Amino acid sequence: MEHYFTNNPDLKSAIREIPYTIKNTNFTFLSDNGVFAKNKIDYASSLLVTLFLENHPELNNAKVLDVGCGYGFIGIVIGKITNASIDLIDINKRALHLCERNLKKNKVVGNVYCSDCYEFVKNKYDYIITNPPIRAGKSVVEHILLDAKNHLKDNGELWCVIHKDQGAKTTKKALEVCYNVEIVGKSKGFYCFRAKIC
Ligand SMILES: C[S@@+](CC[C@H](N)C(=O)[O-])C[C@H]1O[C@@H](n2cnc3c(N)ncnc32)[C@H](O)[C@@H]1O
Repeated sequence: MEHYFTNNPDLKSAIREIPYTIKNTNFTFLSDNGVFAKNKIDYASSLLVTLFLENHPELNNAKVLDVGCGYGFIGIVIGKITNASIDLIDINKRALHLCERNLKKNKVVGNVYCSDCYEFVKNKYDYIITNPPIRAGKSVVEHILLDAKNHLKDNGELWCVIHKDQGAKTTKKALEVCYNVEIVGKSKGFYCFRAKIC
């Protein structure tokens, strides 16, 4: 079965445009078959971005890493609105290609590269933000969430979103082993967490 994170260059391309507006700023995202949220911006990702921006309206010079960036929605919106410096990683090459195009389309500067979780991540970040790939399995999700601490600066924060039916409560407990965890918001069963290193 094909998943949104598998690389399948044979999958027929059908580029589409998705508009999105937040804080009076308009964005357009190119999407395609074979990527996550191919037809519309994901509700959980939008919730995560909205709550993050409520807490961090401006981030000049801060470094943000979007893990599992897909076509770049989270990182691009945060980069444009807050002026943070953004890096975006994913394992899906089609998504990464779209992400490059979406950065240009939305006039945002960012560094995009292919990485299996943190495999090629060398920098430390003020913020790591992710809507993790639940379908990739528990071990990938835990790797992304728990290893974030090794790529955060001392006062850095991990932000993530997860649905109650996809293990939000268990995830909170797992995060609490190495972070101080706060529920920043909840909507339609999605929990948005902010985790700071203890
Ligand atoms: C839930 S989607 C979120 C996509 C995007 N951030 C958004 O909000 O639309 C999770 C993303 O994680 C990516 N992914 C899956 N396994 C991964 C891995 N091992 N390393 C990095 N990214 C991965 C998928 O390709 C997918 O784009």
